[in-house]
Amino acid sequence: MIDLSKTIDLSTTYLGLKLKNPLVASSSPLCQEVANVRRIEDSGAAAVVLASMFEEQIELESDELDRFLTEGSELSPESITHFPELTHRVMGPEVYLAHIARCKQAVKIPVIASLNGTTKGGWVGYAKQMQQAGADAIELNVYYIPTDPDLSADSVERTYVDLVRAVKAEVRIPVAVKLGPYFSNMANMAKKLEAAGADGLVLFNRFYQPDFDLESLEVVPNLMLSTPYELLLRLHWIGMLYGNVKPDLALTGGAHSATDIVKAIMAGAKVVMMTSALLKRGISYLDTLSTELLVWLGEHEYDSIKQMQGSMSRNSVPQPRAFERANYMKVLSSYASR
Ligand SMILES: Cc1cc2nc3c(=O)[nH]c(=O)nc-3n(C[C@H](O)[C@H](O)[C@H](O)COP(=O)(O)O)c2cc1C
Repeated sequence: MIDLSKTIDLSTTYLGLKLKNPLVASSSPLCQEVANVRRIEDSGAAAVVLASMFEEQIELESDELDRFLTEGSELSPESITHFPELTHRVMGPEVYLAHIARCKQAVKIPVIASLNGTTKGGWVGYAKQMQQAGADAIELNVYYIPTDPDLSADSVERTYVDLVRAVKAEVRIPVAVKLGPYFSNMANMAKKLEAAGADGLVLFNRFYQPDFDLESLEVVPNLMLSTPYELLLRLHWIGMLYGNVKPDLALTGGAHSATDIVKAIMAGAKVVMMTSALLKRGISYLDTLSTELLVWLGEHEYDSIKQMQGSMSRNSVPQPRAFERANYMKVLSSYASR
C-alpha cells in the first residue's frame, strides 16, 4: 500500500511557467467553454491550451494566406463530421480574444492561446492581441500540408521559421510551436525552430487523413480519436531531442494513461497534453490520472517528476543506438522470436 501523504513532487515547468504537475488539456473544442476550462482546472490539470483560432476566422488579407487556405482547407482539422457535437464553433477574433480574457478571470492555471497560423501577415497582429487579452503563452498550431511538387523542403521549412521569428519579434510571452513529424530531418527542424526563438515544441500534430466514401466516390474528412500506439512516435522524437535542443518539449498524441505520462516524462517531455482521453473518459479523468501518477511514482520510489525527466532519452540510456537505425534489424527479427 502506497502512502500518498508522502510528499511526491509532481511539479514541472513549461515555457517558463511553474506548473503543479505535467497534465495539460490540449487544444480542442473542450476548451471552448469557460465552464469546461474551470472543470479542467478543478480536475487537476496544471494548464490549458484553448481551441485554436483558425485562419478561416481571419480576414483574408494577403495572397500568401490565400494560398495556404486553398492548399489546406480540405484537410483542416475543424472539418469534423464524426464528432458533430465537438465541431468548433466559429469564433471570430473578437470573440476569441474575449474568451481568453474570460478564461483568465475564471481560472488560476496558465491559459495558453492557440493560433492556427501558417504565414506571417496578420498572424503577428493576432498573436499580439492574444498577449494583450492576457494569454500566458501562445501555441502556434502549424497545420500545413504542402501539396505543390515544386515547393522544396527548404522552402517549407523556411515558412515555419519565418512565422516563428516574426511572432517572436512582436510578443513578450512565450511561444510554442505545434507541428507534425513529417520533415526530412526532424532534429534539424527542431534546431531551426530553436534558432528562430521557439520556447517550446509541441510534438506532434496529427495529420488527419481523409477517407474515401466508395458509394458517393467522395473524399471525406475523417477524424478518429488517438490510440496509445501513437505515443511511440512522440516518445522516439522527444527522447531524441531531449538535451539536444533548448525549447521545452511537450508531448501531444496518444497519451491515455498514467504510465503513458511516465513514459513521456522519461523521454524528456516537460508536460503531457491530452484530448482524446478526456473526450473518451470525461474531464474528471484528469483527477484519476494525477492519483495514478502519484501511486506509480510512490511504488517506484520516485520523489519527484523532475527526477525522472529525460531519464530514458537518447542521451541518458546506456544503449542510445536503440533509438537509431542500428536497432532496425533487431526489431524485425524480434517478431520471429515471439
Ligand atoms: C475534436 C478535436 C479537435 C481538436 N482541435 C484542435 C485545435 O483546435 N487546435 C489544435 O492545435 N489541436 C486540436 N486538436 C488536436 C489535439 O489538441 C491533440 O493534439 C490531438 O488530438 C492528439 O492528442 P490526443 O492523442 O491526446 O488526442 C483537436 C483534436 C480533436 C480530437
